Amino acid sequence: MKSEVRVFSPGTVSNVACGFDILGFPLESIGDEMIVRKTTEKGIKIKNFSDYKLPLDISKNAASVSALALIDSLNPDFGFEIEIIKKIKPGSGIGSSGASASGCVFAINKLMGDPFTIADLIKFAMKDMENDGMFEHPDNIAPALLGGFVLVKSLSPLEIIKIPTPDDLYCTVIHPHIEIKTAYSRSILPKDVSLVNATKQIANFGSLIHSLHVSDYDLIKTSLNDHLIEKHRSKLIPNFYEVKSAALEAGALGCSISGSGPSIFALSQGIDRSMEVEQAMNKVYSGTSIEFSTHVSKIGDQGVKLI
Ligand code: HSE
Repeated sequence: MKSEVRVFSPGTVSNVACGFDILGFPLESIGDEMIVRKTTEKGIKIKNFSDYKLPLDISKNAASVSALALIDSLNPDFGFEIEIIKKIKPGSGIGSSGASASGCVFAINKLMGDPFTIADLIKFAMKDMENDGMFEHPDNIAPALLGGFVLVKSLSPLEIIKIPTPDDLYCTVIHPHIEIKTAYSRSILPKDVSLVNATKQIANFGSLIHSLHVSDYDLIKTSLNDHLIEKHRSKLIPNFYEVKSAALEAGALGCSISGSGPSIFALSQGIDRSMEVEQAMNKVYSGTSIEFSTHVSKIGDQGVKLI
């Protein structure tokens, strides 16, 4: 059995316009890297090799909280050292803590000879959210671990469904360098929604899932509309509607907020179109004083992987 592994753990887009809290997909071109090795000393140690400040207290870091949940259930007579090379800025809306949690439990499971299923690993990785006092919504963790579009059908019992990803579907992300805490982004949402809007949302969500199964890009385009969340959270994201209009004019199939924001994502057919959308988004933010970064990515079908 190996004593050290290195993993890539992808950034993820959750909600995907009409699938609030229940749908997500991983990005292939942006993610964290982690080196996890066995140590003779029991317990968990964290080392940060990132440009970002991360909590080194093992009760506060997403990677170690999830790792502790996993090793608590096996009680091995050795421990683990986790080197984190974080490339996803915390608070970006593309699943930064989900990537830490997912990558870490995946790596430790490999080092222990794969005793756990992906469903088990999702539950361990979700421990970090409990710790944060947050509502559990594994719409980042499940696609990070499973790969491709993933539908979280139920939390208790945990039921997750992998949905096919059309071959030519690409994602463009623009990440304004401002931080929006998920807890705050949830606190501004209404507790109740109208029946009319709920019906429109269900219709869009059902047709989006169908369109992914049959690779119907026209139907993906008409399904990627959110009637519940975007109008509230868009107020937290500077120039959101300008970016969205520019992306759609450049030929994106749809554009909305990634997770709880501030990142904005757009889906396009083909990498060339996705890069044109990137330029259009770029142009909007270049006219502001806000720093930002952009990414174009295929939708990862594998999720976390050994590298
Ligand atoms: N789906 C969550 C939200 C974020 O929109 O608040 C990611 O889990």
